[in-house]
Amino acid sequence: MSARRPLISGNWKMHLNHFEALKLTQELSYQITGDDIEHVDVSLHPPFTDLRTVQTVIDSDKLPFFLGAQHCHFEDKGAFTGEIAPAMLAKLNVTYVIAGHSERREIFGETDEMVNAKAKAILAAGMTPIVCVGETLAERDGGEAEAKVGSQVQAALTGLSAEQVGGLVIAYEPIWAIGTGRTASAEDAQAMCHHVRAGVSGIYGADAAASVRVQYGGSVKPANANELLTQPDIDGALVGGAALSADDFTRIVQFRL
Ligand code: 13P
Repeated sequence: MSARRPLISGNWKMHLNHFEALKLTQELSYQITGDDIEHVDVSLHPPFTDLRTVQTVIDSDKLPFFLGAQHCHFEDKGAFTGEIAPAMLAKLNVTYVIAGHSERREIFGETDEMVNAKAKAILAAGMTPIVCVGETLAERDGGEAEAKVGSQVQAALTGLSAEQVGGLVIAYEPIWAIGTGRTASAEDAQAMCHHVRAGVSGIYGADAAASVRVQYGGSVKPANANELLTQPDIDGALVGGAALSADDFTRIVQFRL
């Protein structure tokens, strides 16, 4: 069994207003037990407009959830209309910030360089990046999945220390499995998460590779969570659709090693 503590993250994407987010957080707090939290860390990533509301309920009711964000800018202030600075998130007790989600890369043109700058800015603000990597279906079919993901990992982490890399989270999310109902087989997901870890080892050494947490993401559901999450190199899940249901997300959190 791995010494790494699994992290199950709910990425709510552009769903739920702040009332709905409050309701889902409260439902999760009724269903996820202290026993569950002994085994896993849980982070919730609502849209920006819901963060203050979810923070308030987590803090006031002392709920065992980490607050997460889905995105931020890499500058700490300035004329960037519509953007949010890392320090603004830190002030809301945000712990984890997703960086380089494939939807941000594909729809909003985020580059490897931006993801790298963002990872550095998130760390500088005292938070933990969840750096997303993953290949398209064409890249997978062309036998390029390992090369693509390896280069994304290398680019995203450039300039970080081995200690910083050891403390962060990398989410392997094959793009063809996101929101499609298609999941990588447990064997493929394990192989790719192992490949991510081997890439970290090659650049930052065995200690960083042994402690970095590698999540799998892409149509994780209660029915497949156990098989995926018990693989030796998979240290948790980044969950989209199923994170919007308290029942489904709880059942994913309740997988057992
Ligand atoms: P789905 O679980 O809906 O496939 O989304 C995965 C994802 O993108 C999480 O960040």
